[in-house]
Amino acid sequence: MTTKSYEVNEGTVTVVQPVASKDFIETPFVRDVIDRAMHYLKAGFPVHLRGIAGTGKTTMALRLAEFLDKPVVWLQGDEELSTTHLIGGDIGYHRRSLRDNFISSVLKVEEDASREWVDNRLTHACQNGYTLIYDEFTRSRPEANNVLLSVLQEGVLNFPTSRGKGEQVIRVHPDFHAIFTSNPEEYAGVHRSQDALRDRLVTLDLECFDRETEMRITHKKSGTALPDAAKIVDIVRSVRESGQYEFAPTVRGCLMIAKAVHAYKGKVKIQKTDPLFRQICLDILTSETSRIGSKTTAKKVKDIVLKAISQYCKNGNGNGHG
Ligand SMILES: Nc1ncnc2c1ncn2[C@@H]1O[C@H](COP(=O)(O)OP(=O)(O)O)[C@@H](O)[C@H]1O
Ligand SMILES: [Mg+2]
Repeated sequence: MTTKSYEVNEGTVTVVQPVASKDFIETPFVRDVIDRAMHYLKAGFPVHLRGIAGTGKTTMALRLAEFLDKPVVWLQGDEELSTTHLIGGDIGYHRRSLRDNFISSVLKVEEDASREWVDNRLTHACQNGYTLIYDEFTRSRPEANNVLLSVLQEGVLNFPTSRGKGEQVIRVHPDFHAIFTSNPEEYAGVHRSQDALRDRLVTLDLECFDRETEMRITHKKSGTALPDAAKIVDIVRSVRESGQYEFAPTVRGCLMIAKAVHAYKGKVKIQKTDPLFRQICLDILTSETSRIGSKTTAKKVKDIVLKAISQYCKNGNGNGHG
């Protein structure tokens, strides 16, 4: 994650304090998304950042949270997540051993089923007016997410079982905001019917970054000189523009190539004649574009990558770092 943050324990819930990071790249492309998202959030709508892996959703969500300037409660979408993970539940268990007074060899174990309600993340955020980031929310089962419907629609959090002092409902704090992310490639999985929830969110579809943003992220996060970062980005963009893949390569591919070159400490030149540079590009781009290892896709990608290397990496400087 680009936006730096630190965690604080608040009872049973860990909250994240987002802190501004110098690594965050804010080009006009990025600013446009942030501006729109901030206005929707300020208008009281939850924002949903949707896009394939590597479009900067998680980084953007943290940046937005940083602007909202409230502690962040983080939820990671997961098949195993239940309503209890969101709002809390009756946990805690009482167990004690007793020595029987009459028959000293008998040890009685007393188990007490009186459980205690413990708040979880969503309850904590709603009550204190924190920001909820629910990353990859479509990975969770829709039943687990249902509790969010009334939070987002009516501003109330309903508890399915009696919570502690008999409270069944709490009002959501006016400072509460929610930011969701999801990857449309994952809707093909089992949990596609999150429609009720999606209805209540303003969805912003994130495209892959523009050239300037990709160059600047690659430069900033790998230390590669800007002209060399541009070559790497142009190679990756050629593959993306070709459409010859199962999965589009993103800025992650650019970063992986740049960091791999860096690991060779100057031994790899970003030049078309360097066989190792060509191999790094092929390794990373064939794996990023075909996650099931399709030979046909790999062959097409290989041709495009080699052509792009000859086009963009004329020999000359290109020793990687500046
Ligand atoms: N605005 C940005 N500034 C700097 N780095 C960024 C920015 N957006 C994304 N990145 C970097 O790009 C990569 C992918 O971003 P990430 O937020 O993980 O994407 P996603 O959540 O969509 O998969 C990460 O290495 C991230 O640090
Ligand atoms: Mg992410």
